[in-house]
Amino acid sequence: MKAHHKIFSDTLSALELQPADNPLEIGCGAGTFVRWALESGCRATAVDHSADMVALTARNNAVAVRDGRLKVVEATAEALPLPDEQFTCAAMANVFFFLDAPRALTELRRVLAPGARIVVHTVAPNPPASVAPPPVARRMRLYSDDDLRALFQNAGFTESNIARLGATFQLVTASR
Ligand SMILES: C[S@@+](CC[C@H](N)C(=O)[O-])C[C@H]1O[C@@H](n2cnc3c(N)ncnc32)[C@H](O)[C@@H]1O
Repeated sequence: MKAHHKIFSDTLSALELQPADNPLEIGCGAGTFVRWALESGCRATAVDHSADMVALTARNNAVAVRDGRLKVVEATAEALPLPDEQFTCAAMANVFFFLDAPRALTELRRVLAPGARIVVHTVAPNPPASVAPPPVARRMRLYSDDDLRALFQNAGFTESNIARLGATFQLVTASR
């Protein structure tokens, strides 16, 4: 979705990818964010719990998959079939509000290497109706800045910082 492009560029800027990075994206959807991430020269893994989205991400990044620079994995954020301490960083855009946050953050911390960084772009409480249609909005779990910071701290992340991007979005950066 073109509407997500500003979200992707804000998330990527905060992630500061280097060619040696090995990022994990959770909730990859159609695979546009990870396609942009791969432009840094890194290799990456993208996860989604939807088989359709996994297929779409693989199709939209067919060369990177063929060249072994991108793995696309069908899995839920709350139970990642991935080894411990594997990734140098992680990103989520437009998905955190769908997750069981304590379980997903604990699982994410497990697969991140010590010192790894995480960037989460999510929706702040009381968003404008244009952000999501009512049936979707009712399913979204939105958190105050303090509650969001506590979720990351309780999962063992350090240096948690919450930036507000306009009135609608929060950008969380933290370290493993
Ligand atoms: C709103 S879409 C966002 C997709 C993409 N990140 C973007 O911004 O365009 C949310 C994505 O997260 C996936 N998703 C939702 N809950 C998930 C979970 N518990 N574990 C893994 N993926 C999940 C959905 O299948 C969907 O592809």
